[in-house]
Amino acid sequence: MKVCIVGASGKLGQYMVRHALERGYEVVGVCREESVEKLDAFKGLITIVPGATDDAEVIKRAVSGCDGVLVVLVPRGVHGYSTGTAQAVLDHAPAGARLIFSCGWHITLDGRDVYSWKLKALVNVFGPLARLARFADLDDQVEACRRVFASDSRWTVVRGSDLEEGESQGLPVWSRHVGDPILKSNITRRVDFALFMVAAIEDDELVHEAPAIVGCRTPSALAHAAATGGSVSPISA
Ligand SMILES: NC(=O)c1ccc[n+]([C@@H]2O[C@H](COP(=O)([O-])OP(=O)(O)OC[C@H]3O[C@@H](n4cnc5c(N)ncnc54)[C@H](OP(=O)(O)O)[C@@H]3O)[C@@H](O)[C@H]2O)c1
Repeated sequence: MKVCIVGASGKLGQYMVRHALERGYEVVGVCREESVEKLDAFKGLITIVPGATDDAEVIKRAVSGCDGVLVVLVPRGVHGYSTGTAQAVLDHAPAGARLIFSCGWHITLDGRDVYSWKLKALVNVFGPLARLARFADLDDQVEACRRVFASDSRWTVVRGSDLEEGESQGLPVWSRHVGDPILKSNITRRVDFALFMVAAIEDDELVHEAPAIVGCRTPSALAHAAATGGSVSPISA
């Protein structure tokens, strides 16, 4: 199994590199030139293709021969970085490859998510401010995901809850819709977000799904498990 990790030098990316290596996968990492040294711990273990993740030529080279592509979608700047990254992967990944994209709960696949006032306020207040400061453009991630959802590739869009650091608690649980009780705790260890992304490569049930995830040891996940007889398997509302 050969996988490409686009955005390998970030926090989520580095965890994904570790999980992929632990599974014995061959790993190609893409990251910005100035971030290559963040991957020094993996020297000799992975191939690094330096460059902007929205550069079609960089992506074309990096994804060649890959069975899976893991993409960290970050809406940094106001020049469509996420959209360019997603499009480059959609255009150049080998036919039939598993494509796994990361984003936040604010992305919706079918419009049936129910958001808390806190998340709505964050998107409605932080979003415009971040764009004004030219720091980030949340709409860019929305457009990137819209293109992924419309593609006929074998995609999965993993929607992360709030994140925290800490040791792995195991594979997060998921649901199709934000607002479902299982997700109420709204917290996932970043290391486990990465675990879910990597595990999705070999989970065909997640093809064309946009799972919203939450830590498997959180109160809401445990309450769901107790209510369903101890099972912490995904629910499909
Ligand atoms: N943070 C959260 O609470 C949260 C919650 C839910 C979902 N998520 C999702 O989780 C994923 C990872 O997010 P994260 O917050 O944990 O961050 P992260 O893993 O540290 O990743 C940040 C990424 O942004 C890149 N980056 C930073 N500055 C940049 C710039 N000026 N131009 C271009 N790229 C730049 C980094 O590349 P370099 O290494 O080159 O700097 C890195 O690949 C994202 O898809 C995000 O939507 C995050």
